[in-house]
Amino acid sequence: MSAEWQQVLQDLITLTGFSDQDKEILRTSARVTAGWADEFAQAFYDLLFSYKPTAAVFAPNERPAREVSLKGWYHDVVHGNITAEFWKEQWVVGLIHIARRVTNPYMLGMTSRVQQLFLHKCLQAFPPQQAEAVYGAFKRTTDVVAGLITEGYFQNYMLAMEHVAGFREKLIARMLDMEIHDMLREAGVQLSIEKWSLA
Ligand code: HEM
Repeated sequence: MSAEWQQVLQDLITLTGFSDQDKEILRTSARVTAGWADEFAQAFYDLLFSYKPTAAVFAPNERPAREVSLKGWYHDVVHGNITAEFWKEQWVVGLIHIARRVTNPYMLGMTSRVQQLFLHKCLQAFPPQQAEAVYGAFKRTTDVVAGLITEGYFQNYMLAMEHVAGFREKLIARMLDMEIHDMLREAGVQLSIEKWSLA
């Protein structure tokens, strides 16, 4: 696997503002938030199974196993068990999702749902200032997760294409340049700079 994921992680941490303090906040609120795991798993899969395109992702009888792993993931997040290993696993989830035809819109839609439910629960459980702090820590963490999964999906997809086609990265970038130039022209887009390249 490429080491690209570490740069992507750095970008996401810097731009979301995630910090060690978030882990601490999550850890100290876990006494309350960990108790919401069943409700989260139920809401998550009730929605996915009630919508035809996402229900079609799952094999018959797969739901219990998926609920167990979602609860494991939720447990790690709300206990602030955010290690380098945890982040790397999220990158690999992108690859797993490619194989299971879980698109990024599915994943991002569900990230939004999980965040909305978490905010709702925080507002019920904590005084406003603490609710904002706990939700903020959860939001930054899960935004970094979603960014890693999205980019892991994209980069692994590209890598597989390069391997299949036997192309080199530089050559692909030059071919993409020409293609994107054409597509921008067709879309009637005039960029604000003259020269650009992916190479
Ligand atoms: C909040 C967004 C999501 C997160 C954080 C997430 C996270 C994960 C993680 C950590 C795994 C690996 C562990 C495991 O095997 O279960 C995984 C796998 C998987 N996810 Fe997701 N996921 C998300 C959204 C979705 C959605 C929306 C779907 C379906 C529409 C989905 C379907 C799957 C499937 C089918 C697997 C593979 C299980 C296997 O074959 O081993 N995920 N996901």
